[in-house]
Amino acid sequence: MIEDLDKALSRAQEVLTSPESIRRICISGKAKGKQPEQVRIDIRPVALKAGLHWQAVSHDGKRDTTKNLALGELSLARLFKLGYANILIESTSQEINLRLTKSGEAQFSIKRVELDAAELAHDRSKERLLSADDEIFIELGISDHNGKLKPSRSDKFIQVQEFLKILSHSLDEKRDKNQELKVIDLGCGHAYLTLAAHKYLKKQGHEVKTLGIDERQDSRERNVALVEKLKMSKEITFQATKIANLELANFDIAIALHACDTASDDAISWAVKSGVEMILVAPCCHHDIQRQMKEAPAPWNIAIKHGIIHERVGDILTDSIRAGVLKILGYRSDIIEFVAGEHTPRNLMIRAFKTGAPAQRADIAELEQIITQWKIEPALMVRLKDELSVRLG
Ligand SMILES: C[S@@+](CC[C@H](N)C(=O)[O-])C[C@H]1O[C@@H](n2cnc3c(N)ncnc32)[C@H](O)[C@@H]1O
Repeated sequence: MIEDLDKALSRAQEVLTSPESIRRICISGKAKGKQPEQVRIDIRPVALKAGLHWQAVSHDGKRDTTKNLALGELSLARLFKLGYANILIESTSQEINLRLTKSGEAQFSIKRVELDAAELAHDRSKERLLSADDEIFIELGISDHNGKLKPSRSDKFIQVQEFLKILSHSLDEKRDKNQELKVIDLGCGHAYLTLAAHKYLKKQGHEVKTLGIDERQDSRERNVALVEKLKMSKEITFQATKIANLELANFDIAIALHACDTASDDAISWAVKSGVEMILVAPCCHHDIQRQMKEAPAPWNIAIKHGIIHERVGDILTDSIRAGVLKILGYRSDIIEFVAGEHTPRNLMIRAFKTGAPAQRADIAELEQIITQWKIEPALMVRLKDELSVRLG
């Protein structure tokens, strides 16, 4: 709803009269022609000895500055008018978004949500498998030099932590600690997950060797320097190559977090061809099938008329087909939400364990039916054509 800016700001301010219900406030973006000193300001309620306060962390692109404010001292209008364009307020019952329009008015929206209350402890340390002050997070730039998580990096930190939880649960089912684990991270980027998974598995008492793959040479150079600094270069290595060009090799666990588009298919297909026993892939954008969905089988035409729904049906088809292919190729596969959507919209994970079980007729029929009806040729099926042809007949 478009409304007068001052009115919208005072509606937003009213929500702050119940600070204990607020989970977080984020002020960000740039108003047209303005250049605020801080890139964003993150605010949350904290319980100090002197009572409840607001803790405001300003991030200037390089470092964070923290300031505690008495409850009455926080004025959203004053902060917003420093030149920002967006305010997000997340409370236990609503998510409020205020966005400055080009004409200087406000677009104001409220979404109903049901969320747990924020933890009010001053130094919040939720149970994490690896704490924010671990040296790897400091060197990766996720935490500052004092080991404090940077608010601007908290989404990536939480994605990695939640990924580790799935990894740890999956290992509980399977692993003997005396055996060396070989882990490969496909599309590792800046190696947040690579290093965290390695360190966590070591902490659990495993002998681990880890390889990070990324097509970018500059990522490899940066990552190699990092593990040298951390004295982990004998255990963690990196290779700059496209996944599709990577030689097949013997690994126990293949992980991939947000490998773009069909790079997730490359990751799955490489892992299947290499006989990897555990595959954990949290895909990113899905364009391959979306691009092919020109004609929908009845009665699905209604679902591809609208851009966003077209995209979502494409996402659902892509990941369902990936899990279906894995099942046909002898993996126990499922799709789970590995992290809450507030930390990334790309929050699904395809999880697969090699069982060698024979393909079921019904699964093959389902897969054949869906690709025939939608007239699609999913990238994963193209990559695993030979393997599938043995099963599909
Ligand atoms: C969105 S980033 C995610 C990085 C990392 N996994 C993370 O979660 O922080 C995707 C990474 O995959 C890499 N990538 C994309 N396609 C690739 C391919 N075909 N082969 C190897 N790396 C690829 C990109 O260079 C990029 O670093």
